[in-house]
Amino acid sequence: MSHFLYKNKNLFCENVDVRDIAEKYGTPSYVYSKKTLEENFESYFNAFEKNQGLICFSVKSLSNISVLKLLNEKGSGFDIVSGGELERAIHAGANPKKIIFTGIAKSNEEITAGIKRNILAFNIESEAEMHRIEKLAAAENKVVDVAIRFNPEIDSGGHEYIKTGRKKDKFGILLDEILSLAEHISNSSFLKLIGLSCHIGSQIINLNDFKTTAQYIKKLAQEVNKMGVDLEFLDLGGGLGISYSNTDSPTPKDLIAIIEEELSDRSEKIILEPGRSISGNAAIMLTSVEYIKGKYLIVDAGMNDLIRPALYKAKHNILNAKKSDSVSEEWTIVGPICESSDVLAKDFKINASEGDLLAVETVGAYGHVMSSNYNTRRKPPEILVEGSNFKIIRQRETYKDLLRNEIELNA
Ligand code: LLP
Repeated sequence: MSHFLYKNKNLFCENVDVRDIAEKYGTPSYVYSKKTLEENFESYFNAFEKNQGLICFSVKSLSNISVLKLLNEKGSGFDIVSGGELERAIHAGANPKKIIFTGIAKSNEEITAGIKRNILAFNIESEAEMHRIEKLAAAENKVVDVAIRFNPEIDSGGHEYIKTGRKKDKFGILLDEILSLAEHISNSSFLKLIGLSCHIGSQIINLNDFKTTAQYIKKLAQEVNKMGVDLEFLDLGGGLGISYSNTDSPTPKDLIAIIEEELSDRSEKIILEPGRSISGNAAIMLTSVEYIKGKYLIVDAGMNDLIRPALYKAKHNILNAKKSDSVSEEWTIVGPICESSDVLAKDFKINASEGDLLAVETVGAYGHVMSSNYNTRRKPPEILVEGSNFKIIRQRETYKDLLRNEIELNA
């Protein structure tokens, strides 16, 4: 059930009228429903029938420390892709043994930080990275746990920019190269192979792609076993798609049932790295109509606040915080940024006038995390609703914040 619903024609997040939030914290602003985040996490956590798997929430989709904290308290691990995300997860109280470090360009500094923190594993993305981690492990005189991220050579994902599992993509290691890496690791004094991992793309609606990936991972695990290596986990990454327009989408339960079926004779722990399917529908972005100009509804949120429509032509539903019975008109909803791509929605039917409060739906994933200061605009605040209460979990930036790191010549 959605926790963003109209009550007497006023839009509520849980039991809070979103107009109260806009009045207190202004617009644009991101509003999260705690209940939605928790229920989405639980729908993964409770779906395992066989052995309890490990859910490593993908920090890149929504990285606010308060959100990470609440997921950590529910038992979540974390999928990280940078030293910054490592620091965030640790700051939120994460158990390092539930942190998986992925990413194709891990630096010396980031690898050493992960080694020092004793994280669960590095997902190795290239032969060169394997040698780098081995060298840094030796320098720390530690045996470091690693998994190999393989590229399953699958064309999957919602948009060209978020496909990751094709042969030509920059991610993962091709199937025919895996065994030689596994061989090297199994003979290394400083690396220990404890898993296999993959991530085939994002916003995937077709569960068959996960089924094929599970078949690949099973086959690879069998081959690695033949080398005398026992694995601790099989990590199938994230990528489960969600509905952006009230259509049906597969659930975590559907996904996990398929994976468990394919891997029924394996004893390794299953790891998943969901982002969007936990955070996506947990937030709206509030924005006010500044002006009406012909067919344009000009709002105060720009592509710097939410880049998905401009970058991926993503479609987000938009509601008026006050429902009206009059006939909707068709608008092009645009923001203040000086670019013609700053369009939130094109030919969109909505009833709205100057001064109205609008809510852009399903922005919890890759929303605030991808915001920027373009046009020297302040990043918006984040507010967490819990029942009838709401708390600010990130302040709106100030103009002083925007200038803080700049050094004036001759100052
Ligand atoms: N694991 C790895 C290694 C990933 O690269 C990603 C996302 C995930 C897990 C989480 O995927 P999810 O469950 O959220 O689909 N900015 C784009 C999405 C980029 C996804 C990048 N990788 C968007 O707004 O659609």
